[in-house]
Amino acid sequence: MRKFFKVLLLIIVLLVVVVGVFAIFIKFREMPKYKVENIAINVEVTPQRIEKGMKLASMLCFSCHYNSESQKFTGRLLSEAPQFGEIHSANITKDSIAGIGKLTDGQLIYFIRTGIKPDGEYVPPYMPKLIHIADEDLYSIIAYLHSSDSRVQADPTPSPKSQQSFLTKFLVTIKAFKPFDYPKEAIPLPDTTNQVAWGRYITLYQYECYTCHSKDFATNNYGFPEKSPGYFGGGNKMYQLDGSKISTLNITSDKETGIGVWTEDDFVKAVKTGIVPNGQSSLRYPMIPYLNLTDTELKAIYAYLKTVPALKHKVDRKFAD
Ligand code: HEC
Ligand code: HEC
Repeated sequence: MRKFFKVLLLIIVLLVVVVGVFAIFIKFREMPKYKVENIAINVEVTPQRIEKGMKLASMLCFSCHYNSESQKFTGRLLSEAPQFGEIHSANITKDSIAGIGKLTDGQLIYFIRTGIKPDGEYVPPYMPKLIHIADEDLYSIIAYLHSSDSRVQADPTPSPKSQQSFLTKFLVTIKAFKPFDYPKEAIPLPDTTNQVAWGRYITLYQYECYTCHSKDFATNNYGFPEKSPGYFGGGNKMYQLDGSKISTLNITSDKETGIGVWTEDDFVKAVKTGIVPNGQSSLRYPMIPYLNLTDTELKAIYAYLKTVPALKHKVDRKFAD
């Protein structure tokens, strides 16, 4: 019997040591490195691309990379993402040291699609990756980053290095957070004459509304968005800029718990301006007003959302903790 307890004790001690060593390894590790594929693309900068890229970037990149002090894309502390650690979005101005001036178009495109930086370092989901957006739209974003717009002009302010939380480091270690594959084939623009197909593209592939509006970032199916649990039923809890939490809302056509009673006009106004029907207050961050979407685009999103199965799922608008 005594021997049995001795062996048991030894096993427990060994386990504690192994777990401890693993925890120390995680705590002090850097973000893992992955192999970088060389993408040979030189984006031709045209006025059309710059215009489209500015529009896309204003709704896709601005909220994280724009710094209101420098009035440029010099990055900021992402106070709304404390669970990930102390995360600073990068300086993505044209500065060749602090910014992205030295990166090739291929390196930028590879990073935005996969999350792997030119030096191989992986950037976890606190920077969303555009895995389905059409090649042409991505080229437009790149063209905009090369443009003469004042917000992307070289600024030497370095962005502090992010300090990832233990949770983030743990999740990258067990590969729950890992890079996306680079697309194997070219991704064409959608057929804009088919309202639902176009709306689906805008909703899922350009602005990725489902990532926030489904059950949880952790259970989303990024490869096949429609297979995400609680698809568009809301309930995903997220931080506001002051660190308080709110839930995303159900935007399926369910009449009681979703937006089934809204008219097309109600929807267009809400997404564009943040003002909801009969609402006393406007929609809160991180639901940004999609100011630069045209009414035709907003109507296409509405038409697509009407085809999404209605989900009865009540979300408390006032949720906070
Ligand atoms: C939700 C916040 C968020 C959004 C939205 C976002 N980014 Fe980022 N981005 C980050 C963070 C955080 C980092 C820095 C990661 C790190 O290295 O710690 C980053 C890093 C980068 C880098 C890497 C720079 C380098 O040092 O190699 C580039 C390029 C970039 N972002 C471009 C974009 C573009 C283009 C968009 C819009 C299509 C965008 N980002 C949207 C948060 C965001
Ligand atoms: C970064 C996460 C995020 C993204 C991306 C996002 N939303 Fe939201 N959305 C929210 C949050 C959070 C709320 C709730 C805001 C509140 O309660 O004040 C919300 C609210 C809404 C509402 C109001 C619903 C109601 O019942 O009042 C609509 C409509 C909506 N979003 C549509 C969209 C559309 C369309 C897109 C894509 C173009 C989108 N959202 C992208 C986070 C997001």
